[in-house]
Amino acid sequence: MVLAAGKGLRMKSRIPKVLHPVAGRPMLLWCLSAARALDPARLLVVSNPDHDGVRSAMDGRVHTVPQAEALGTGHALAQVSSEHRTPGPVVVLYGDTPLLRGSTLQSMLDAHLASGAVVTLLTAEVADPQGYGRVVRSPAGAFRAIVEEKDASEAQRRLREVNTGVYCFRGRDLWPALSRLENRNQAGEYYLTDVVRLIKGKVHTVPVGDEQEVLGINDRVQLAEAEAAMRRRILETLMRAGVTVTDPRTTFVDADVEVGQDTVIHPFSTITGRSVIGEDCVIGPFAQLRDSRIGHGSRIERAHLEQSTVGTNVAVGPFSRLRPGTELAEGVRVGTHTELKNARIGAGSAVPHFSYIGDAVIGANVNIGAGTITANWDGFEKHPTEIGDRAYVSCDTIFIAPVRIGSDATTAADTVVVRDVPSGSLAIARPEMRIVEGYTARRRARRKARTQEVGKHGAAESR
Ligand code: UD1
Ligand code: CA
Repeated sequence: MVLAAGKGLRMKSRIPKVLHPVAGRPMLLWCLSAARALDPARLLVVSNPDHDGVRSAMDGRVHTVPQAEALGTGHALAQVSSEHRTPGPVVVLYGDTPLLRGSTLQSMLDAHLASGAVVTLLTAEVADPQGYGRVVRSPAGAFRAIVEEKDASEAQRRLREVNTGVYCFRGRDLWPALSRLENRNQAGEYYLTDVVRLIKGKVHTVPVGDEQEVLGINDRVQLAEAEAAMRRRILETLMRAGVTVTDPRTTFVDADVEVGQDTVIHPFSTITGRSVIGEDCVIGPFAQLRDSRIGHGSRIERAHLEQSTVGTNVAVGPFSRLRPGTELAEGVRVGTHTELKNARIGAGSAVPHFSYIGDAVIGANVNIGAGTITANWDGFEKHPTEIGDRAYVSCDTIFIAPVRIGSDATTAADTVVVRDVPSGSLAIARPEMRIVEGYTARRRARRKARTQEVGKHGAAESR
């Protein structure tokens, strides 16, 4: 069971707390994937029925248990209907602990089953226990109770062993105990932590190895802490799988990103969403990739890509922008200050400098000269530009779309292409150039004469 119906007031957000992303994935989904590692017979999520977003964010098969009013973690559990009140082991965790690992849950469950305890708690010895429920023990070290910070005495607040909010219960003892919960505490809530005290029988505690894993996110400072830890974890997984990350401190990769072997990611790069990077690529420095696919052996440097597909051995950047719908075939080169949008560029073609190519299909081995623009928008609608294989587009060509340029066609520099260009022909539209001989010398002479005039008058005035 994952509890996710809380108000999350400390986040000061209009979005439910459990939907705030950590490394690109809502924190609730991290908790669900840890829970799935147990291969549970059923997976229940307690959520507020008003939080539509929570239900739609959930992946896979999950039963939702509605808790309309967040009256406490114990009350949340009490909302489970009788059909789900199974007698066997029930693992409970909170939807705000995204760093919790499935393997930790598994070893805790194993310990629970082996010990024969009625309740097993995952506890942590933390440097700063602030905000957590403290584990109170007898002088001999036996578990006594969990005391919430609000209800704790001065001495209890000094205890550094805390409740992580991860529990294994024996179902047949858990469900009846819930009806005996009371809310006479500082928060006026029905605490799940009290259930542990109410259930008669052996309580077993399992210490967590890595304190960070059980970080509960209550505010955005903790959210940033979880983000940093998760990103580090993702990068370490990539590095162990054969990806070089030259500076993990300035590299950000989302959880669902795939990166191939021997790819190098240079500093200040961000790869997010469902991006897939091939093998032997060089990404960055300063690359931002969102939901994009990059083929093997490509180099993306100082560029911004969104929902774009890049083939093998492509070079992009520096200073290129690939907007949604860009598709680059094998060996394409895209250079400085080039913006592409909804554009397919064929194999071996190049858009090396200062261009805007939008709503276009460009064939193979086409050269697009510097300053080329597809004028795709007439103020009302978007129109396509088509350019055939091996066309040679000279500098400063403007294509007034819709327009088609045949294969092997050429445009002269500074041409505004207003109608289709047949294959193999030249489109040229420019005013004839004139030569004015001796111009520079005449101009300089005029200038000199003028400055001498001014000099004389100036001298007269100052006298
Ligand atoms: C809780 C524990 C505390 C523990 C800490 C670990 C209780 C009473 N306290 O405190 O001992 O040290 O977690 O992180 O359990 N929720 C509901 N319905 C509710 C209230 C909460 O579903 O009515 C959910 C929240 O969405 C959240 C989780 O339960 O995911 C924990 O609630 P939260 O308010 O964050 O509890 P803490 O104060 O952190
Ligand atoms: Ca919490």
